Amino acid sequence: MYQVPLPPEYTDLSAEEIRSRIHAAKAKLGSGTVILGHHYQRDEIIEHADHRGDSYKLAKDANLHPEAHTIVFCGVHFMAESADILTPDHVKVILPNLAAGCSMADMANIFQVRKCWQELQRVLGDAMSVVPVTYINSAANLKGFVGENGGTVCTSTNAPTAVAWALTQGEKVLFFPDQHLGRNTGAKLGYDPETEMVVWDPFKPLGGNSEEAIRSAKFILWKGHCSVHKRFTLEQIAKAREEHPGINILVHPECELEVVNAADFNGSTEYIIKTVEAAEPGSKWAVGTEINLVNRLAKEMPDRLIFCLDPQICPCSTMYRVHPSFLLWTLENLVNGVVVNQIVVPDKVKHYAKIALDRMLTVCA
Ligand code: 13P
Ligand code: SF4
Repeated sequence: MYQVPLPPEYTDLSAEEIRSRIHAAKAKLGSGTVILGHHYQRDEIIEHADHRGDSYKLAKDANLHPEAHTIVFCGVHFMAESADILTPDHVKVILPNLAAGCSMADMANIFQVRKCWQELQRVLGDAMSVVPVTYINSAANLKGFVGENGGTVCTSTNAPTAVAWALTQGEKVLFFPDQHLGRNTGAKLGYDPETEMVVWDPFKPLGGNSEEAIRSAKFILWKGHCSVHKRFTLEQIAKAREEHPGINILVHPECELEVVNAADFNGSTEYIIKTVEAAEPGSKWAVGTEINLVNRLAKEMPDRLIFCLDPQICPCSTMYRVHPSFLLWTLENLVNGVVVNQIVVPDKVKHYAKIALDRMLTVCA
């Protein structure tokens, strides 16, 4: 989506000025305006969030403030769309910077997914029994697609429960857009990544598979990935273990299967936080996820050794686009009665997307 440049009066402000003006605008707006912040947001945003969480918690809690008429979502586009789908019609959802997307979510679009579905129908015939599951990191119309076709949404918190449910509804799962979360989840449920999973490349006929391979697969995994989590490697794990005997390796399930298998623990951003918080003072943690979150953990718990598994800094560049000056701009506009950057999911899409999200919230409650 196109983000208009910030007005010049917002581009030259000092960090302290931005901070105090955000506080002032928030105070004027009162409790009707709620700021949500995903764990990957920078500290200068998180300090203003009324509520922070992983994508599951933020979707679940979108309705937590019944008095709210406006949600300012400091996260990425698919998260703001989910909040718009899950909240009542009168609630406006704002994304401070429209350029804050998710490169993984962009790896699957509705035309490619519909084409894949048709090809699967052609190969599997009338008896086709495939349940589509979309990671919440996907566009609203993909959530609509799964809602319309008997499937569900999942997040990194609840993927095993959601996928296990899907396999009670049909014989196979089409999982998009993150092949790694799909593979890790299938493996956690006891399926063999080598023999029971194929990868669907949307740019190849039949996704690059033979008809036979599709017929015998349990999981059809979309060829998408997160560029941040792809950076974590076995070499980094080996190095961390060598340099810090007794260290715990904790990674996000968007990492590759071999990395997840070599780690001691894996889970969503919320799981990562809870695990480190529950650990003993003096314990050591190499964490395979986005750098803003890892640095915050290290700062909040100085009595533990906590560092990012990747020695090169690995920020999510799209999350990072929510600079405090964008938050200030949206809030001061609201103070003046002007709504900028509202995310509106069209009603037609919303209907089935809500079915899919509600299914997730029910199945994974
Ligand atoms: P969580 O659901 O764990 O917050 O992850 C969202 C995400 O985008 C991870 O890259
Ligand atoms: Fe998307 Fe990866 Fe950024 Fe998460 S970390 S929002 S999956 S690009």
